[in-house]
Amino acid sequence: MSCCHITLAPNDEEPEVPDENLSSHLAELDLSPSEELKAQAVGTEDLFAEAESDPEAFWARQARERLTWSKDFDQTLDWSEAPFAKWFVGGELNVAHNCVDRHVEAGNGDRVALHFEGEGGDTRTVTYAQLKDDVCRAANALVELGVSKGDRVAIYLPMIPEAIATMLACARLGAPHSVIFGGFSAEALRTRINDAEARVVVTADGQWRRGKAAPLKPAVDEALAGGDTPVEKVLVVKRTESEVEWTDGRDVWWHDLVDGQSTEHTAEPMDAEHPLFILYTSGTTGKPKGIFHTTGGYLTQTAYTNAVVHDVHPETDVYWCTADIGWVTGHSYIVYGPLANGATQVLYEGTPDTPHQGRWWEIVEKYKVSILYTAPTAIRTFMKWGSDIPAKFDLSSIRVLGSVGEPINPEAWLWYRKNIGGDKAPIVDTWWQTETGAIMISPLPGVTTLEPGSAQRPIPGISAEILDDEGKPFTEPDKVGYLVLTQPWPSMLRGIWGDPERYKETYWSRFGEKYYFAGDGAKYDEKGNIWLLGRVDDVMNVSGHRLSTAEIESALVSHPSVAEAAVVGATDETTGQAVVAFVILRGGAEDHGDQTVQELRNHVAKEIGPIAKPRQIMVVPELPKTRSGKIMRRLLKDVAENREVGDVTTLADSSVMNLIQQGLSKDS
Ligand code: WTA
Repeated sequence: MSCCHITLAPNDEEPEVPDENLSSHLAELDLSPSEELKAQAVGTEDLFAEAESDPEAFWARQARERLTWSKDFDQTLDWSEAPFAKWFVGGELNVAHNCVDRHVEAGNGDRVALHFEGEGGDTRTVTYAQLKDDVCRAANALVELGVSKGDRVAIYLPMIPEAIATMLACARLGAPHSVIFGGFSAEALRTRINDAEARVVVTADGQWRRGKAAPLKPAVDEALAGGDTPVEKVLVVKRTESEVEWTDGRDVWWHDLVDGQSTEHTAEPMDAEHPLFILYTSGTTGKPKGIFHTTGGYLTQTAYTNAVVHDVHPETDVYWCTADIGWVTGHSYIVYGPLANGATQVLYEGTPDTPHQGRWWEIVEKYKVSILYTAPTAIRTFMKWGSDIPAKFDLSSIRVLGSVGEPINPEAWLWYRKNIGGDKAPIVDTWWQTETGAIMISPLPGVTTLEPGSAQRPIPGISAEILDDEGKPFTEPDKVGYLVLTQPWPSMLRGIWGDPERYKETYWSRFGEKYYFAGDGAKYDEKGNIWLLGRVDDVMNVSGHRLSTAEIESALVSHPSVAEAAVVGATDETTGQAVVAFVILRGGAEDHGDQTVQELRNHVAKEIGPIAKPRQIMVVPELPKTRSGKIMRRLLKDVAENREVGDVTTLADSSVMNLIQQGLSKDS
């Protein structure tokens, strides 16, 4: 089968090799599970055998044991219209009932669901009984705003309890939500709201960032301006007491509408395949993809993984996932998985260095956090700040650590274990994607002997392989290939909102319809562990956030001074990758050096959001292109990473790279 117009950039073929000191240090460590963990962990060795012998029966058991169904399903998987899957066919359940009501009904209403910590130090403790009331009030309020089953609701909120109540209220009504990260701009908000055709937006006046009130509602106002919008109502939480503009008839204060609602609301059962949410993520083209997930399969796998991978014991653990609810990690591992399991968790609104660089560790000490789930970029930042900072706090409550979003380099892995995990907590390095909905490849704390830097093996119930350029699976160590998933899984995306063809083409065609193509390069080591090597397509991973080169390029060319732009993800010590842009200015547009660069960076922030701001923009006279006109990003990446430029023979004009480099050395 010929499939591959994808080639691994040469530097992707060399995964970071730990230096010799580090390797010998690693070899001395005993990274097998402790006896205590083996005895108590939720995930056990037996699960692997059970899942392997009959995967569908395995998932059916997980679905029935972990969730409460109003109507049992009669078929576990319908794959007859592959790649469009139906899981737990005929089953009915309500997600909000599973995440709150049933815990209250089981007598656990007094258990803390959320220890909320505002950036400024304000706190709220929300029990399951209170969360149930909050969700019911919010559901009744949404009904009053005209929301009914099937309508979409956009959520643009800070990390406050109202965000969780709103998501669950939507789930309760069967109204799919689309959460948009608070760091996205008005423009990004507009395209997502329009694509999802949201009727209602739930937002706040602002959010606390680094001690300042950062506005949110103005972006919503701007996104809805011009009249041509599907949005009828905007529900606004008062968080920062900032002045906001008000559109009468459209805007409603949360405290006016929600607070007075009844705490009674009957949760109607939904079909197992009823859409739960849409979440936009970057793909290889300029247009973000609305990944959508459904009810029964998604909740089954998020609950299962939160139990067996994070090893959450709801009666005793205090769990903290530091992601934002604007990303899939926040959806699956703050809202749905942990709440379905009845866990107690920390919800923190702000930044890690406000008011001081020990804020996270202060929170761990204060709430006795026992399970912490975060991203490698955060860990590398803490390494930079110094190990004396966490050392000032009592972190002895920590017993399991998790990592997600990008490969974690062995140095950061060791630092994390030693300085946060008391040199003993296992680290689960979890590989998954917005599309997979839940964790797919990861060690299990009570089972796996850990291998720093590797996500290791598919969890029970999941099967993955690595394919070569010809699409053939292989197992030999150290050969680089493409990660694929070989069996449907319950929390898999059900498609791209409004674009079934793009779904098939993006995920199920590169290697034929049998394989889900994840877009990641991977290899095995001699022990059979899987090492993830980063994206093989035009998607960058900056601080664990997915950004598309095409999206940033189109933002740049929308500026009147820019004729052409090429964007690459360059290796960055802290953020994993960083955005580096090369632009050609239009004839007549003058290059004002720094001023031009700043203007273009701000333009990208305005079009997409501050997270997409290029670290560096280089104004160049030409871009390197093949004879068919394709930009050779590999060569630009060499420049961005200060390497000798690779093979230029396929360039239409091989002198272009000289021209670029001369121009740049003149500047510096
Ligand atoms: C990358 C985040 C290596 C990968 C949950 C994937 C990882 C993309 C890991 C999905 C990991 C995530 N090791 N790489 N443990 N976790 N990735 O959709 O490239 O924001 O394809 O989902 O992040 O990013 P997304």
